[in-house]
Amino acid sequence: MAVLVTGGAGYIGSHTVAEFIDKGEEIVVLDNLQKGHRNAVLSGAFYQGDIRDSEILEKVFSNHDIEAVIHFAADSLVGESVQEPLKYYDNNLITAQRLLVCMVKYGVKKIVFSSTAATYGEPESIPIRETDRKVPTNPYGETKLAIETMLKWCEQAYGTQSVALRYFNAAGAHVDGHIGEDHRPESHLIPIILQVAAGQREVLAVFGDDYPTADGTCIRDYIHVTDLANAHWLALQKLRKTGESAVYNLGNGEGFSVREVVEKARVITGHSIPLQIVLRRGGDPAILVASSRKAQEELGWKPQFNSLGQIIQSAWNWHKNHPKGFDSIK
Ligand code: UFG
Repeated sequence: MAVLVTGGAGYIGSHTVAEFIDKGEEIVVLDNLQKGHRNAVLSGAFYQGDIRDSEILEKVFSNHDIEAVIHFAADSLVGESVQEPLKYYDNNLITAQRLLVCMVKYGVKKIVFSSTAATYGEPESIPIRETDRKVPTNPYGETKLAIETMLKWCEQAYGTQSVALRYFNAAGAHVDGHIGEDHRPESHLIPIILQVAAGQREVLAVFGDDYPTADGTCIRDYIHVTDLANAHWLALQKLRKTGESAVYNLGNGEGFSVREVVEKARVITGHSIPLQIVLRRGGDPAILVASSRKAQEELGWKPQFNSLGQIIQSAWNWHKNHPKGFDSIK
């Protein structure tokens, strides 16, 4: 039986595919390649197509004996979601609904869903626990929260078993160096900092230094992408063993401000990384730091690359060897 990974050519998706292959799983990837990279997926069956295209979805589910789905395919930019909310309702919510319809039709009962810290909005306390208040401050978080709720109702109606993983800030690259982060255009903090360090950009625009934090810049909890990937495999093991649905935060439990991330990157890259303070970006909460105790206790999850230095170093190794991202790989 196979595990279907939607969005498996994307950043977190491709690292998860690599992790599942390492564990000996049979993988099928479905990705429309709007954001993903074909050469980020080294093995397994690959289908290029969109979940909203019922023909390709039917083809995948009828060609393979799908046991479970790991669902990444989505748009995931906080700022863009504020500018274009309907795009997020379409590509995130409607896509998940179509996928679930097909899962129900083919009797596929297990799904690990890529959710986000953005479901919480402004946290009521730090570190954030799974049961804390959830009032998203952007349409991205809103659509992901709506999908979590949809999964709850699907369990009641169709017996769909789900694990929703609320990621904090994914960063870093695979330690063997064959895959890493490559968004077009890049919008995430660490790769942008590294583009400045590599001389591909002149300056890092810091989105606001008037937040209620010690240095005025936003604080985030950075988690290595391979540690996230491993949590997906553990989540599927839990579904296989217990069939019980659950929601888990995934972060390192330590927050770093934008200025602190820059400082660490200066040490690792040896570059001065000039900054320019600009206006706040819409939809950004001041502080997001996870309590991942539940994932550690119930899944046995233990992040391996849990220092900011290790995370930035792995991203820097990928960036130096692949200055044009996946276009650097022939
Ligand atoms: N930032 C800058 N300048 C930049 C880019 C980012 O100052 O050029 C700041 C942002 O304002 C934010 C921090 O750096 O304070 C991190 O920004 P990212 O864009 O790297 O990440 P986000 O926190 O916006 O979002 C990420 C994922 C989301 C997820 C969220 C959860 O992209 O999918 O983490 O914390 F929801």
